[in-house]
Amino acid sequence: MTKTPQQARASAPSNIALVKYWGKRDTQRNLPLTSSFSVSLSHMRSTATIQEAPGPQDLWHIHGNPNKAERVLQVAREATGDHRPLEITIENSFPSGAGLASSASSMAALALALNTMLAQDRLSTEEIATWARLGSGSSVRSLYPGYVLWDAGTQADGSDCIARTLYPAQHMPLALVVCVVDDQPKPIGSTAAMERCRETSPLYERFHTQNPADLKQATEAVKEQDFFALAEISEANCQAMHAIMHTAQPPINYFKPGTKAAIECVQKLRQNGTPCFFTIDAGPNVKVFCPPEHAQSVTEACEALPGVLYLLQDRVATSLHEDDAPQT
Ligand code: DP6
Repeated sequence: MTKTPQQARASAPSNIALVKYWGKRDTQRNLPLTSSFSVSLSHMRSTATIQEAPGPQDLWHIHGNPNKAERVLQVAREATGDHRPLEITIENSFPSGAGLASSASSMAALALALNTMLAQDRLSTEEIATWARLGSGSSVRSLYPGYVLWDAGTQADGSDCIARTLYPAQHMPLALVVCVVDDQPKPIGSTAAMERCRETSPLYERFHTQNPADLKQATEAVKEQDFFALAEISEANCQAMHAIMHTAQPPINYFKPGTKAAIECVQKLRQNGTPCFFTIDAGPNVKVFCPPEHAQSVTEACEALPGVLYLLQDRVATSLHEDDAPQT
């Protein structure tokens, strides 16, 4: 018989969507209404460490509220029948809760570590994803490297709601420069924001009707290694998601003055021929993608911007491991 582990540790990368997930078809199972397309990163990661708790209670050392993580733990316990009290620590290599997808990498790392601790590493990635998904939908994409498609599926039980790598990072290497304009936790979390948008925004339905065309355009652009086509569709999709938020009641506005400055800077750079584009999630920080050979000039243009506190640098990951080798 396999020995029950006394401790486990796993890490997972953050991911950034180029075609966004912004709505659910089932809130209980946390199934997305439409499919999304993302890139998994190399350096921005979360690490989950689990050991048996010294007493009868679970102990959490985690940024913010452990509600989402508790859902992941609960489903893992139900699936395995292992109810030992646990001490769980999740650490991020980057600011948490600021729209840098810390919940995606955290929930993916937690589900991976729970697979070791409670299931002796028996689960497939698809099964681990069903645990992670309950903590954060977008975490499913953090379980795969490179360019990742998360298919919404149509089955009520979510059995065809599955992610996979569509293209490896080497197919079209991308560097990332994050303009951090605020690294404090966001005023409203994405789950609540999505729900408010569904209930009140006149643009919510249109965003989802447009999704198949956006996905096709983005995946084709990557297939053809057409950076400028990917830039156009990624920015349009991101702007459409934020338009839903801005037209919700009450409106949700994650943008700060530094956000606008970074958007304008990227637009100007591209008009002048530098290949780069931005995307922004449920937070004010601006993620700027470019081919690796342009990372230096993009960095120089962004670092002096008013309202930008500091920059983070990363790239699309060739593998899911921490020592992911650089792409050349
Ligand atoms: C804006 O995965 O955080 O980053 O499933 O409700 O936990 P829940 O939402 P979450 O949503 C992320 C939304 C987004 C866009 C994206 O990553 O696709």
